[in-house]
Amino acid sequence: MKITIKNAEKFFSNQEFLEFEKKAQNANQSLINKTGEGNDFLGWVNLPAEITENLISDIENTVNSLKNEIMFMVIIGIGGSYLGSKAIIDALSDNFSMVKSKPGQIKVLFAGQNLSEDYLYELREFLSDKSYGLTVISKSGTTTEPAVAFRILKNDIEQKYGKNEARKRIIAITDKEKGALKQLARKEGYKTYIIPDDVGGRFSVLTPVGLFPIALAGFNIRELIKGALKIQNETLTKGNIAETYALVRNLLYLNGFTNEIMVNYNPKLSFLSEWWKQLYGESEGKNGKGIFPAAVNFTTDLHSLGQYIQDGKRNLFETLISVEKTKYKIVLESQEDDSDNLNYLSGKRIEEINKSAEEGTLMAHIDGGVPIIKIEIPEISEFFLGELIYFFEKACGISGYILGVNPFDQPGVEAYKKNMFKILGK
Ligand code: PA5
Repeated sequence: MKITIKNAEKFFSNQEFLEFEKKAQNANQSLINKTGEGNDFLGWVNLPAEITENLISDIENTVNSLKNEIMFMVIIGIGGSYLGSKAIIDALSDNFSMVKSKPGQIKVLFAGQNLSEDYLYELREFLSDKSYGLTVISKSGTTTEPAVAFRILKNDIEQKYGKNEARKRIIAITDKEKGALKQLARKEGYKTYIIPDDVGGRFSVLTPVGLFPIALAGFNIRELIKGALKIQNETLTKGNIAETYALVRNLLYLNGFTNEIMVNYNPKLSFLSEWWKQLYGESEGKNGKGIFPAAVNFTTDLHSLGQYIQDGKRNLFETLISVEKTKYKIVLESQEDDSDNLNYLSGKRIEEINKSAEEGTLMAHIDGGVPIIKIEIPEISEFFLGELIYFFEKACGISGYILGVNPFDQPGVEAYKKNMFKILGK
């Protein structure tokens, strides 16, 4: 992967850059040496190098044996216990995988990521005549949304298969000791994977939280880890890509660009942006500070938010994820009847048109006063997604330290819970 900042440079001074370069280097060293704030949550920093062969083959073996038993797996979790796996699975899946059948492949569904009664009703209805299993993921083991969904779906699966058979179809991913889920898993004898103490939810994609669902969906977690490891190694030295991204976004923030928009030109990456929004929003939005993370899918959103980005309040900058190669190829053919006026495109691939839109939009947005950071990957694959995951995590830690916050806590998420529990009479 590669980062280009030339379209952001005119929005800050060289002196500011040199000053923040130093800050980024110091922040990176604090992460590596575990000397900064929140240093008891830095288990993710060396994770790609530390994942054991035992864990990987255990996950692969469990997935292989489940393949013979079930067609659908419901992943129950919210926030960091859901977004990472959803992001990777969506990015790697066929756009229509839910309605195409591929023998021997488990289809992954999600629950517990909202409190919508209709969502749960419709999911239960869908599952009623399917062969399925449940994977419940919660580090604390006490989060309301997944706990509610699990209570209901556990009851259903036990009624369908009987308690003994149901038990074999349930996997719990949680803390090694604490929480109601751990106690339940122990009591029921569920297959369990552990979320390490020193890895927070939004940094947990490369633990079983992400690895297990991704492997279940049929993707290669070894390649994902390899990609992450490459960036782990590359970001050990000064002046690396994670430092660059972290320092440039902080320089833009300093100069009034308070909103960052993650941009993609491939709908498969839409949930990667959702994962990124949680990572940066929960890590940096505190003490009255922080860049607001937003996201758009182009070219779709050029026909909605495009107007605002081009011409609205000038407090936005973009981070563009540009993918070099598509998986498939479609060429627009010339036709005798040119009444749709598209013969000028004949012989061109759809991706060429998409790339022209990307280039044209980039130029228009620069002209419109929108700084752009460009991140390029050769293709959407496990390896390059692994690179992106670790890159964004490392840059997030560095960025939070530059901003002067603890990027590894989330005190703000408790406020709504207190009110909700009071209203519900807990
Ligand atoms: O990043 C975080 O820590 C949070 O978003 C959590 O992942 C989220 O609240 C879910 O928590 P838990 O895994 O404890 O159910």
